[in-house]
Amino acid sequence: MKDFVPVKDIPKYEGKKVKIRGWVYRKRDQKKIVFIILRDSSGLIQIAAKDIPEAQKATIESSIIIEGKVKKDDRAPSGYEISADKVEIVGLAERFPIGKDISDEFTRDVRHLWVRSRYITSILKVRSEVFKAIREFYSERGFFEVQAPSFTASACEGGSTLFAVKYFDKEVYLTQSWQLYAEAMIHSLEKIFTIAPSYRAEKSRTIRHLAEYWHHEMEVAWMDHDEMMEFEEDLIIYIVKHVLKHCEAELKELERDTSDLKAIKKPFMKISYKDAMKKMKKPATHDITDKEERKLIEDLGSKPVFLTGFPRKMKAFYMKVDPKDKKYVLASDLLLPGIGEVVGGSQRIDTLDELKESMKLFKLKEKDYAWYMDLLRYGAVPHSGFGLGVERIVMWLTGAKHVMDTIPFPRTMDRVYP
Ligand code: 4AD
Repeated sequence: MKDFVPVKDIPKYEGKKVKIRGWVYRKRDQKKIVFIILRDSSGLIQIAAKDIPEAQKATIESSIIIEGKVKKDDRAPSGYEISADKVEIVGLAERFPIGKDISDEFTRDVRHLWVRSRYITSILKVRSEVFKAIREFYSERGFFEVQAPSFTASACEGGSTLFAVKYFDKEVYLTQSWQLYAEAMIHSLEKIFTIAPSYRAEKSRTIRHLAEYWHHEMEVAWMDHDEMMEFEEDLIIYIVKHVLKHCEAELKELERDTSDLKAIKKPFMKISYKDAMKKMKKPATHDITDKEERKLIEDLGSKPVFLTGFPRKMKAFYMKVDPKDKKYVLASDLLLPGIGEVVGGSQRIDTLDELKESMKLFKLKEKDYAWYMDLLRYGAVPHSGFGLGVERIVMWLTGAKHVMDTIPFPRTMDRVYP
């Protein structure tokens, strides 16, 4: 392993012999000389192979090992070239099915191969940094990372998007959210977060809906809704700064104009649901669609916007009613340009009477939520939390046009293969 130089380190070896390995990304045959652009996980490098039959034989996407000398060459894409002494084919590729003319549908059918593209690779590198940034952010603030089960007996976010699965001789559901379990855990750990898959049987074909997505959630004891929104701003800014610092090459490759990311600062704009509906000339109880969310952000200057104070029936049963106006809850969605909702959070109900009243309103059976109700019997405290769709924030950061581009193997209503 340590004999091989990663492509990104090649400039350090100018004038020296190196051994590298990777895949044939492009190939150009001239009479006696073959030019290969080799890719590894760290970048691209040009190889010039003169009178080497193995180089002539190597096809696009073949895996190869090269030995040769590093030269500075302004004509090469990276400014360096390797003049090969030896080329060894490790896995000779059959004719690669992905060429220049490709439809989105086709690249999704051959996703197992399309994940090698520069486009998906760049997005996945940004995605990896987003996971890293989230963990760093919480680690610096003394949080505990806590996991919850994927099989659940009852809904967190309403029955319409539940996936039912067979669980021995019972029917249970795939989790929509870690939250209800998190609310149990804050009585000991106080400040917690997770990053885990959530499942939604979404019957909508939009640019931002997946059936399985990665959900970052946090829950904090003693925190109110206003403090939570400020915390959300800090997290978003932290992720943006981290990605700008560590993903410059990827964002350039993706042609993402980063001026909006560089300009981000707190506080983010806030608009109440009531005022947003007035602005949109809709009734106060109109349920905002994702297109309308994107239009609203545009009209407000294409910056992050908190939509706050939702009508009670529009949101989840666990949200605390606004003591100033009981028709609304202490909840907010953070909307980001081009996508709409990326984070959803709220202050939670913290007395048993309130919870019972809410469950009645939402027609939930007490027997299905007995353990959750128990939490409010033993030292309940004010608490808040939110959930962030990792794919949606990656979409925003990379400028990807569809959420399916931000996860290696997307699951949607129409797609479980490959
Ligand atoms: O707004 P949601 O449904 O909130 C919850 O699940 C809360 N229990 C979270 C919490 O407070 N702990 O989902 C939170 C976020 C959304 O803002 C969105 O970014 C993402 O999860 N999300 C989806 N992402 C991709 N595909 C889907 N089908 C999604 N549904 C929600």
